[in-house]
Amino acid sequence: MTTLLDIRGLTKKYGPITAVDDVSFSVDQGEVLGFIGPNGSGKSTTMKIVTGFLTPTSGTVEVGGLDVTRHPLEIKRRIGYLPEGAPLYGDMTPISLLNFVCKVRRLSKEETKRGIEYAVEKLHIANVLYQPIETLSKGYKRRVGLAQAIVHEPELLILDEPTDGLDPNQKHEVRELLKEMSGKKAVIISTHILEEVEAVCSRAIVIAKGKMVADADPLSLQSRSRLHNAVGIRLPAAQAQACIEMLNGLGGVHQVRTTVETASMVELMALSTDNSEILASVHTAIDEKGIQVNEIYVERGRLEDVFRDLTYAVEGLQQDPDANPEASNA
Ligand SMILES: Nc1ncnc2c1ncn2[C@@H]1O[C@H](COP(=O)(O)OP(=O)(O)O)[C@@H](O)[C@H]1O
Ligand SMILES: [Mg+2]
Repeated sequence: MTTLLDIRGLTKKYGPITAVDDVSFSVDQGEVLGFIGPNGSGKSTTMKIVTGFLTPTSGTVEVGGLDVTRHPLEIKRRIGYLPEGAPLYGDMTPISLLNFVCKVRRLSKEETKRGIEYAVEKLHIANVLYQPIETLSKGYKRRVGLAQAIVHEPELLILDEPTDGLDPNQKHEVRELLKEMSGKKAVIISTHILEEVEAVCSRAIVIAKGKMVADADPLSLQSRSRLHNAVGIRLPAAQAQACIEMLNGLGGVHQVRTTVETASMVELMALSTDNSEILASVHTAIDEKGIQVNEIYVERGRLEDVFRDLTYAVEGLQQDPDANPEASNA
């Protein structure tokens, strides 16, 4: 695989603040990397350095083998960048913006024509090309922002919170477009939205206070959740007490939580010791005790838990037990 981005020992200080602290990773062609972290963790700063808008305090960044501080023009040709907040010139139309961007990037007439066709098709903006950008919906504005990032057909896409500020439907649309756009490129998407990582990324890097705290595919990150391999059970309220007693006595079960409780129905969650598989033994015990259940399923885990575990300690925050709405019976 071709490595398109290589970051080594990257550090950025703003006066006394260390915004990025000794970060190293590389990204290959075809990867869609979710760059996730709480607000202020250094995502935008890292992206601004990669795209040549800021210089590092120390460390190196290479794009396609070229050092970004020594080849600023060349690397801008290889990178498409959607800055945070996706600022656009409101009084321009999308077509004039795209032409302008091509001119600034010194594309030939032929490249401009091909690039605009490509970007307009990928982002489905043909119907708004001649309308002032300020009159477009937020979703369309974002599409125009993405179109200007790919009009020169870059190999590496750097998208800083591409769905920020959009409503759920617009977020969904943009995620679908991101999947279509990525193709053979390498893409880095910064976000603090975890469902975005599950939806579009092949890999996730978690950053907290400028430090990398995880680098893994979303599924294996999810499997680090305390809920990984927990068993959920939905059953009539009248059966709940018997089931809770059974689960509390079962080997391999570490904790039993009541997650939903109504007058007629209860949902329980049995967490396993060391995240081991307990479905089979829970099943057997339910049969043996003749407990009536409506539904039983295995949890894959929650990225949200993992994110909290990984970032809270680094940020010096206390875990709030009330942040977890699931009461415990154990
Ligand atoms: N121009 C700046 N001057 C001083 N501090 C800054 C500047 N830009 C960002 N910071 C600080 O650097 C840290 C990282 O910011 P940023 O990279 O924007 O994080 P993120 O994009 O993850 O929210 C934060 O503490 C932020 O306040
Ligand atoms: Mg940011």
